[in-house]
Amino acid sequence: MLFGRVKPLAAILETAEKKGLHRSLGPIQLTLLGIGAVIGTGIFVLTAEAAQKAGPGMMISFIIAGAVCAVAALCYAELAAMVPVAGSAYTYTYAVVGELFAWMVGWALILEYAVGASAVAVGWSGYFVGLLKSQFGFDLPLYLSVGPSQGGLINLPAVVVSVFVTGLLIIGTTESARFNAVLVAIKVTALTVFIALTLPLAKEAYFHPLTPNGWGTYGVVGAASSIFFAYVGFDAVSTAAEETRNPQRNVPIGLIGSLLICTIFYLLVAGGAIGAIGAQPVVDAAGRAFEPGSPELAAKCAAIVAGGAVQPLVCSKEALAHVLRTIGYVPIGNLIGLAAFLALPSVVLMMMYGQTRVFFVMARDGLLPEKLASVHPRWKTPHVVTAFTGVVVTLMAAFLPVGKLADYSNSGTLFAFAMVAISVMVLRRRDPDRKRPFRTPAVFVVAPLAIIGCVILYAKLPPLAIAVLPGWGLIGLVVYFAYSRSRSHVGRGIGMGGEEMKPILKDQ
Ligand code: ALA
Repeated sequence: MLFGRVKPLAAILETAEKKGLHRSLGPIQLTLLGIGAVIGTGIFVLTAEAAQKAGPGMMISFIIAGAVCAVAALCYAELAAMVPVAGSAYTYTYAVVGELFAWMVGWALILEYAVGASAVAVGWSGYFVGLLKSQFGFDLPLYLSVGPSQGGLINLPAVVVSVFVTGLLIIGTTESARFNAVLVAIKVTALTVFIALTLPLAKEAYFHPLTPNGWGTYGVVGAASSIFFAYVGFDAVSTAAEETRNPQRNVPIGLIGSLLICTIFYLLVAGGAIGAIGAQPVVDAAGRAFEPGSPELAAKCAAIVAGGAVQPLVCSKEALAHVLRTIGYVPIGNLIGLAAFLALPSVVLMMMYGQTRVFFVMARDGLLPEKLASVHPRWKTPHVVTAFTGVVVTLMAAFLPVGKLADYSNSGTLFAFAMVAISVMVLRRRDPDRKRPFRTPAVFVVAPLAIIGCVILYAKLPPLAIAVLPGWGLIGLVVYFAYSRSRSHVGRGIGMGGEEMKPILKDQ
């Protein structure tokens, strides 16, 4: 019976009650948690990559990606309110579609969280290197500041921040809710200042041509597939459901509220960046746009700057700071850089935390070695799995460019989102009378839209990122059938073990 192993919802809820984490988060903290996890490398860095694909049409890309996330969030909200336990999409699928799919979702979430954390670390590195240069006049050599595909050797700052965050997580530094609120304030202030300074200068001419590369993989929809990364993280809210007061009401508020606020910011920021300095792609002699993150683009950008011209937006590794410096606000541009420098590590922390949490629940279910999720006696953290995650994140951050990492991460996330949308519909049919504190409106329209949206965005990722999901999935299947299936607690009909972990946000 390949699809027969479903973990009863009642058992999940019971485990949550028994092993439950302290419920301390309210709706505002939860929305702030969402914004804290969402605003990061996507808007601060990938804006440049999106512009290289879509030109000014990246505003449409932000809308497309935001719309897909909105319908997915509505599906998340129904399940998160019904199944308010740790583990997010993995747990929901386990309860609804069964163990094999849950395993695949958990496996895909590794892409979302671990690879995503690497992407944010590399994004942070761009701002750090820029800040060193503009503030202290120190040029970190290229071979230490980017990976091989961009003419360097190793991205040292990205390595340092990944190791630093791993260390924090191992000794049990989860953010206090108050600290998270401060970081959110820093990010929101930075984006607000950016909008206030750039939008009034917006020139209509910069918005033409609107879609220089059309709508394909390297055009507007392809940019949406990449910029989707900017929205990833709102599901952290549902991951924290086990730590939420009155999750039935507060989780949907947190999910949808944080997504809405971020979408508005992103649109205004993108509009400001385009309107202030233009966002046309850099093209080769034949007029074709270079692929973002390619060595050819890096070489062309270097040549443009060496020729004395202003660096185009699409070439910048610190897009927002660069825009402000270009329009004359050098110190404020540096401050934006400082804001990214301060706030992005917490996004790395959130993503790595999400990863350890998913591993933890999978191990609690017996699908991964329980040793992996052993909790440190003093620090109360899953130190083994955190260290393991840290090594993987650090290696990827050291050598791969930010855009590619974000695309790989997206391929896993899109799969998980689609599975959540399927689960919502299956559960409505199979268990229509179960109490649903939040009901996805028009679920049989919204959920299919979410699935279609995920499929389209996935199909418009670059070919390698498309290949990552089935490749990774295949490895996952091998592990499942070779190891996990025979050890599964549900399969063996035993209860779920595991110890309590620290919550992600503390009260204070
Ligand atoms: N959405 C998060 C970011 O853009 C992952 O950094």
